[in-house]
Amino acid sequence: MARQLAAITGVQGYVPDHIMTNADLEKLVDTTDEWIRTRTGIEQRHILKDPDKATSDMCVEAVRGLLEKTNTDPSEVDMMICATVTPDMPFPDTANITADKLGIKNAFCFDLSAACSGFLYALSTGAKFIESGTHKKVVVIGADQMSSIIDYTDRTTCVIFGDGAGAVMLEPSTDDCGVIDSILKSDGAGRQFLYQKAGGSLHPATLETVQNREHFVYQNGRPVFKAAVTGMSDVVLRLMERNHLTVDDITWMVPHQANMRIIETVAKMADFPMEKIMINIQRYGNTTAGTLPLCLWDYESQLKKGDNIILTAFGGGFTWGATWVKWAY
Ligand SMILES: CC(C)(COP(=O)(O)OP(=O)(O)OC[C@H]1O[C@@H](n2cnc3c(N)ncnc32)[C@H](O)[C@@H]1OP(=O)(O)O)[C@@H](O)C(=O)NCCC(=O)NCCS
Repeated sequence: MARQLAAITGVQGYVPDHIMTNADLEKLVDTTDEWIRTRTGIEQRHILKDPDKATSDMCVEAVRGLLEKTNTDPSEVDMMICATVTPDMPFPDTANITADKLGIKNAFCFDLSAACSGFLYALSTGAKFIESGTHKKVVVIGADQMSSIIDYTDRTTCVIFGDGAGAVMLEPSTDDCGVIDSILKSDGAGRQFLYQKAGGSLHPATLETVQNREHFVYQNGRPVFKAAVTGMSDVVLRLMERNHLTVDDITWMVPHQANMRIIETVAKMADFPMEKIMINIQRYGNTTAGTLPLCLWDYESQLKKGDNIILTAFGGGFTWGATWVKWAY
């Protein structure tokens, strides 16, 4: 009997209406459109401005569209995982809040925190529940409102990040299409280079943590850049090798959208032509857990059943990985 796989049967994204351009950032910090474009490839990012809205509201938009697209009634969803590092609040989980707002009542919902690799971690986790036969409709979301933890006086981080959400539906399939294999890694020693210092149990919020701007993202860009390039290219190559795949077998590589130079270097190291690389960083910036599903959403009309796709990501933690998906529709 063919192995039961978790097929992606739909994808939907959402980005807020408000666009912050490089010219807007020139007014906030000492930077230039030229620096941002040449060093990162980013031209604009979408920002959730409404003070009464948060990550779950972006999830709601993405998942509502996904349910419509896949003709799924909210009562049919039996699991929903939300990968995010910007939950609406420390608890309850954003997945639970999203489920409530959408009338999803019968699902096992939880958040997963793996920064920019969050969607890959969640995709692999969700797929296991389908493969084991216990769950039939699993929604996997990658969503972050990075603007809620970005210091708009810090030019080294504020130019990079944006807000957005993407979601996929996983359902059982026996026609060889679905999530086939993953290599997921982590190394906590990397935490010194990319983190949000305060707001957790080590440094709960105080007047001092707020005054010291410790509730924002801190990043030492160069070591992150280096580790991202080596980490992603290594797992992509190992995943391909252990599945006997060549570049010719792969229709698309979907890399995390953190920096255009990282994407180009990973493509070069894995020997992929740029025509096979999904790229939308110029429009959204780095939306953390949102980048991979937002890429799939943007390129959905170009995908065909049977296409081999390699997704890869690297993020805070450090966390990284690569997943081989055979597109199911
Ligand atoms: C952040 C990043 C874009 C910085 O690019 P970089 O080429 O490494 O630049 P550096 O950090 O070495 O800084 C070079 C100079 O540019 C300056 N600079 C940094 N940000 C700037 C900005 N927005 N505008 C203008 N100058 C800037 C620095 O202050 C530094 O100036 P100095 O030489 O006078 O000290 C890059 O390191 C990066 O993309 N890192 C990984 C990001 C990432 O993947 N993060 C998420 C993990 S998934």
